[in-house]
Amino acid sequence: MFAVLTDKLKPGKILAQEVRDISGRLLLARGNEIGVNHIRIFKTWGVSEVTVEGPARGNEKPDPESNPEILEQVIETAKTLFQHADLDHPVIKKIFNLSVQFRCEHNLVDTVGEVHIEEHEIAPRDRKINFKKKLEQKKIILPEIPSVVFELNEVIANPLSSAYHIAQVVNRSPSLTVLLLKIVNSSFYGFPSKIDKVSHAVTLIGTREISGLALGISILSIFKNIPKEIIDMYSFLKHSLACGIFSRILAAQKNFGQTEQLFVSGLLHDLGRLILYLYFADESRNILSRSRNNNRLLHEEEKDYLGCDHAQVGKQLMEQWKLPLILENNVLYHHKPSEAQQPIPATIVHLADIIVNSLGIGSSGEKFVPPLDLEAWENLQLPLSSFETIIGQATHQFYSLESLLQP
Ligand SMILES: [Fe+2]
Ligand SMILES: [Fe+2]
Repeated sequence: MFAVLTDKLKPGKILAQEVRDISGRLLLARGNEIGVNHIRIFKTWGVSEVTVEGPARGNEKPDPESNPEILEQVIETAKTLFQHADLDHPVIKKIFNLSVQFRCEHNLVDTVGEVHIEEHEIAPRDRKINFKKKLEQKKIILPEIPSVVFELNEVIANPLSSAYHIAQVVNRSPSLTVLLLKIVNSSFYGFPSKIDKVSHAVTLIGTREISGLALGISILSIFKNIPKEIIDMYSFLKHSLACGIFSRILAAQKNFGQTEQLFVSGLLHDLGRLILYLYFADESRNILSRSRNNNRLLHEEEKDYLGCDHAQVGKQLMEQWKLPLILENNVLYHHKPSEAQQPIPATIVHLADIIVNSLGIGSSGEKFVPPLDLEAWENLQLPLSSFETIIGQATHQFYSLESLLQP
């Protein structure tokens, strides 16, 4: 039997494993012949792949167990990446196994984007800067929030605004217009005909989603000039988008109302790292190089070197930009959600980050899978059995939006 991507699935195959949606509802039992309607239902409910009987051909994914050599290599890589996580804990064990399966299926045999960065000695006077103090005393000039985001939030908050008014604001930013039309025409939405008007796109996608996407994408676009040897921005954007999507799906799974806020939180959770890469390029190079050489977690190395980590820097930026407090909460505590004032949404972003790092979808510079906050996990109460469906649904959404990130 073999796993087949739903997009490539042809009618007539026999289902080898039952298919359930994200809430566990049975969509089709094993042993049934798959018809055209079933494929449509799988796509509607976000099932990204199914397992069918018979030998693999063409677009079907290889069974990792059929190639023990690759499987062994992937397991070794995964063990390195999980060295800061407790592999004896059931949820980490589960994520580890799903990561191995995903990496085999996507041929991610080696560790992600290993760039060798030389450490440069920085004069002790500069090295000893109390970065946090400087940041708090506003001695570091942070970038301004793009004006289109402000205008968009204002027009969306006005109950008298129509799709036409919102479209007028979007139209003033050519890059946002192009992006919005790309999004609405992507396979993620799957509308049958091409949409070429922004007002039409606003009506179809919904204002809240538009403002979330506009906020996330326009903020991340400020940082496109970060030196390539520090971080590959395409990889950073992949990590951010995947965390946004996983956060949104986890929020829906927990019946957490504000799924769009969770999407934006996931999208922007590592924003502080971009500030470090852009404004403190030399220090960042050294932090990255030290974490690689000493096999340490990047955010711990940041704390040692600068006195604070990227989560605190990101929070400072959100405060300056007067973004909703829930975003500050989720960004500041995404590595320690049990300390957050609102732990559940922060835990959702924390878990999304762990899963995305384990699957190796892009990277924000961190090489390892961050450790799980056990107290926060206990309070989240998410059934382990939902992980396969969450990963299937989120990766399916990610791949249908990934092309938007390409330069
Ligand atoms: Fe982070
Ligand atoms: Fe992250």
